Amino acid sequence: MPIFRAMTIREIITAPDPRLKVISKPVAEVTAETRALMDDMLETMYAAPGIGLAAIQIGVPLRIIVMDLAKDDEEPDPRYYINPEILEAAEETAPYEEGCLSVPDVYDTVERPDYVKLRFIDYHGEIRTMEASGLTATCIQHEMDHLEGILFIDHLSRLKRSMVLKKLAKQKRLEAEA
Ligand code: NI
Repeated sequence: MPIFRAMTIREIITAPDPRLKVISKPVAEVTAETRALMDDMLETMYAAPGIGLAAIQIGVPLRIIVMDLAKDDEEPDPRYYINPEILEAAEETAPYEEGCLSVPDVYDTVERPDYVKLRFIDYHGEIRTMEASGLTATCIQHEMDHLEGILFIDHLSRLKRSMVLKKLAKQKRLEAEA
């Protein structure tokens, strides 16, 4: 048994890709393996760099999210959300310009509830609740969408979405030819 396991940067899946539409399954038990996966997710997110990542974005269909919303001049603040559930959401929405590591170089405004109350399991397997507003609320809802196979571009108009997907598909073809 190795006593030390280095974290690994995994490949991030980009749209269009059918794996990003998969509905992720709940984690039955938080084990050393789950924590190793979360460590890799965090490392992958930091390397990208990004502020949030769902397991499905590295091809693992489990309900796990990592986030870090600390600013560049702040200490890292890694957060882990396993099997997150929304208990309450505000009726008021707030617009945010969103982006996604699985939708490279695309940014657009999405309206989401500006407050949510969540229940989730943390890195150590403890059940916790949390209230979130502002960027945290936006980010957690964006990541929770990934668990349902939904991308932020799915909240845009059909026309915008199809333009984005065409652009991304073309980009993939060019990369494949290079
Ligand atoms: Ni995303």
